[in-house]
Amino acid sequence: MRPSAANTGNRPAVTLTTDRLALRPTTPADAQRAFEIQSDWDVTRMLRMAQFPPDPDDMTGWFGVHRQEWIAGTAFRFAIERKGHMIGLVDLDEIDGEEGELGYWLEKPSWGQGYAFEAAQAVVSFAFEQLGLARLKSGHAADNPASGKVLLKLGFRPEKTMRKASRSRGEEILHQSYSLASEAWRNRSGADR
Ligand SMILES: CC(C)(COP(=O)(O)OP(=O)(O)OC[C@H]1O[C@@H](n2cnc3c(N)ncnc32)[C@H](O)[C@@H]1OP(=O)(O)O)[C@@H](O)C(=O)NCCC(=O)NCCS
Repeated sequence: MRPSAANTGNRPAVTLTTDRLALRPTTPADAQRAFEIQSDWDVTRMLRMAQFPPDPDDMTGWFGVHRQEWIAGTAFRFAIERKGHMIGLVDLDEIDGEEGELGYWLEKPSWGQGYAFEAAQAVVSFAFEQLGLARLKSGHAADNPASGKVLLKLGFRPEKTMRKASRSRGEEILHQSYSLASEAWRNRSGADR
């Protein structure tokens, strides 16, 4: 029997805190900072659905709908802050029934310090423990091993390798998809404790 859909709508806006980061719901004012970060080709070429160079009006429009998405329970997008400064974004989107998709990106100066894992771990926990989702999907370009490492460390399992269109690159890329079930996450965090 298919389990009933998770009730993701009408959730209060929450800030998640980790050892080194604050993850707060995005606001329209974050569009400018996101534009700066995504003006770096090394960041945006890894984001399959993003435009390069980024368009300021599109970015403003996108950040302008995040609050409605949150209220509707269709996407939950968090600005990643380190010492009060936005260094990236981590989100759950494409929420449908009990499934959702995890994504993240950071400014280049913040790479290599474990921040993506730390932020994503908090949001995965939010997805399973607070929203009641049963399964998360994610994925990365085949030439993005750092993202693969983050997903594997979270407990995601590789699924399929396929060709997909990349908007930022303007061509097809090899894409590796992953998934993580809430049960596997719970067993894993139980083992970690
Ligand atoms: C992918 C990204 C979020 C990783 O952020 P990060 O904070 O540097 O990630 P973490 O530090 O948590 O972990 C990265 C891991 O990948 C490893 N790594 C980094 N570059 C690597 C490479 N070229 N090959 C293999 N492993 C690599 C790191 O050593 C680290 O592993 P460790 O924890 O075992 O030491 C960041 O590089 C980024 O924002 N990239 C551009 C946007 C993007 O790719 N978003 C994801 C789209 S799927």
